[in-house]
Amino acid sequence: MTLLVFMSRATSSQDLSQASVADLTEAQATVELKRLATTIAEHDRRYYQDDAPTISDAAYDALRQRNTAIEVRFPALIRADSPSRKVGAAPVQKFAKLRHAVPMLSLNNAFSEGEVADFVERVRRFLRLAEDEPLGITAEPKIDGLSCSLRYERGRLASGATRGDGTEGEDVTPNVRTIAEIPDRLNVAHAPEIVEVRGEVYMRRSDFFDLNARQQAAGKPVFANPRNSAAGSLRQLDPAITAARPLKFFAYAWGEMSAMPETTQTAMVQWFASAGFTVNPLMRLCHSLDALLATYREIEEQRADLDYDIDGVVYKVDRLDWQERLGFVSRSPRWALAHKFPAEKAVTLVNAIDIQVGRTGALTPVAKLAPVTVGGVVVQNATLHNADEIARLDVRVGDTVEIQRAGDVIPQVLRVVIAKRPKDTQPYAFPQHCPCELKTPVVRETTAGGEEGAVARCSGEFACPYQKIEHLKHFVSRRAFDIEGLGEKQIEFFFAQGWLTEPADIFTLEARNPKIKLEQQEGYGELSVRNLFTAIAARREIALERFIYALGIRHVGETTARALARAYGSWPAFHDACVQLAEGHAEARAEMDALDQIGDAVIDSLATYFGEAHNRRIVERLTGEVQIRDAEKVSTATPVAGKTVVFTGTLEKMTREEAKAMAERLGAKVAGSVSKKTDYVVAGPGAGSKLNKAREAGVAVLTEDEWFALVGEGRGA
Ligand code: IVH
Repeated sequence: MTLLVFMSRATSSQDLSQASVADLTEAQATVELKRLATTIAEHDRRYYQDDAPTISDAAYDALRQRNTAIEVRFPALIRADSPSRKVGAAPVQKFAKLRHAVPMLSLNNAFSEGEVADFVERVRRFLRLAEDEPLGITAEPKIDGLSCSLRYERGRLASGATRGDGTEGEDVTPNVRTIAEIPDRLNVAHAPEIVEVRGEVYMRRSDFFDLNARQQAAGKPVFANPRNSAAGSLRQLDPAITAARPLKFFAYAWGEMSAMPETTQTAMVQWFASAGFTVNPLMRLCHSLDALLATYREIEEQRADLDYDIDGVVYKVDRLDWQERLGFVSRSPRWALAHKFPAEKAVTLVNAIDIQVGRTGALTPVAKLAPVTVGGVVVQNATLHNADEIARLDVRVGDTVEIQRAGDVIPQVLRVVIAKRPKDTQPYAFPQHCPCELKTPVVRETTAGGEEGAVARCSGEFACPYQKIEHLKHFVSRRAFDIEGLGEKQIEFFFAQGWLTEPADIFTLEARNPKIKLEQQEGYGELSVRNLFTAIAARREIALERFIYALGIRHVGETTARALARAYGSWPAFHDACVQLAEGHAEARAEMDALDQIGDAVIDSLATYFGEAHNRRIVERLTGEVQIRDAEKVSTATPVAGKTVVFTGTLEKMTREEAKAMAERLGAKVAGSVSKKTDYVVAGPGAGSKLNKAREAGVAVLTEDEWFALVGEGRGA
């Protein structure tokens, strides 16, 4: 049987780019390394200098991985201009970081009217609104630009920052000062001491076309779309360049406010307008689902005629006291929703089907497409998800397919245009072996019911170089260790050189540098090497939740890591619990099971991870290098901070969801079942076994009113 798709095709010179690394002859490898060096350099230029990438990050990574894999097989062929040597050479723009006083969050997306109806229902239920209680929700265009936070102190513009990772952005203060629509002073009589105005920096379509025409005439690179053009113009180290670019700004939200001038979303936006900002004229206040959907359709109809790109409609609960009660889940507000416009579609050719290997060894097939423009962006790759999806679609190399792209989501293959299928195509044979040099067999997971799961994994685990690299990339990623100057490209390079194979190696790099001599590598100098080591040293101390997340354990994402960190408080406590889990202690399992948000998948995954001697050794080496800060308590000044609460029975004054959100806001942990760690059980009518268990265990049982009295909220009366 054919193991790899590329092997099923002849490796003629034009097909070389599809050939398996393992099959290349030395002569072919020479040609391929040359092609990769040129291609990657071109993509670097588009990305770093033009802010106009034409391929996805994943596709770019795949090119670099291929380059590395060939170099590992043929070390003698490594070129002087190899991309693996040029790491760090790209002129990355450096801005100072600016921490957001209030995080800049993202919005939940909806793609159908049903999801919008669910949103409105959810809000009503959460707030326990009577059927006849009016609920005002605003609808406004979702601007396709880049969000920006502007801080005014005593009425004067003090700083401007991009969104960044939501917690920390780039300081672009001198650049935002050049934007005419961003006032230097708030034009109101008594502005609060601190006002943070948030909104979207964008470029008008007409200005974008003009700019591109000018760029072209001057022999300079052109931008792919208005959004890239706005981003590229704002993120200029020289603000004079920003000043020469026609950037605009719509104000639609806020961050820190020392006082709130208004009590509704609509009034706040009007207040921004009175203060001198431009606000979007299409915003409406609606009082029913039908009115929201009608506004959506109205805005969609105008979309093509607007002089700026929009990609949906944003709905926001109008009353700010209700917004506050609704609060947030993870990184998105419960009081807002982005209703996206339908995805844009296009038809193109499948040139090949590649396999990418992820951090957990999952093999993801990717269709390599003849480049096609979808919604203003050139698409060359589309995900095929897994073997079942390929079989379902029956996608073959040589097929014409319909693809769709929605926002930043990876493009997907919708269907094959069978009428256009060439005669000689073969059904795709999913690889039975990992594309890594080890060619380890691929296993399909079995589900709890004993059925074959969809995901195929490389069984090489710790030995598979792809998985090692992906683990390291995850470890240094923004939400994990976030080490400045050590990104994906550097990890690949350091890995290929054999300088880094596991996380602890990062922290011993400096001590090993007299041998490595990083400063002698192309793209590095004394200063950049010193900066890198300073950045690494700065991360020797790390918050528990980041540390747990950084380990890259399956099913342990950011939210789960945070929940675990808050529940166990310290690394030793969490580590002990996991080791006990791995050893099969029922009590450790029950304790974790009682935590809200933590289910069997997470527990099993932690047990498996800590059951492996190899993983324990990796973690042990790492904890020898870093100091892990105990988890920050959400709030320490409330009577329930740090307490574990279980809600049971029918709650009458708040929904279960609101109760949970409130408890968490006050620093309590909410658990799903009663254990000896439970401090309070809040029981409404109809409470059953949990209440009995609480009584047996001698846990304090409160009524809803007693709960309100305890936390000092006046709603009980
Ligand atoms: S409100 C708490 N309103 O969408 C969220 N966002 O997915 C506050 N965006 O990063 C955001 N138009 O860049 C809001 N009218 C609008 C928007 C808008 C575009 C962007 C914004 C944000 C992203 C969230």
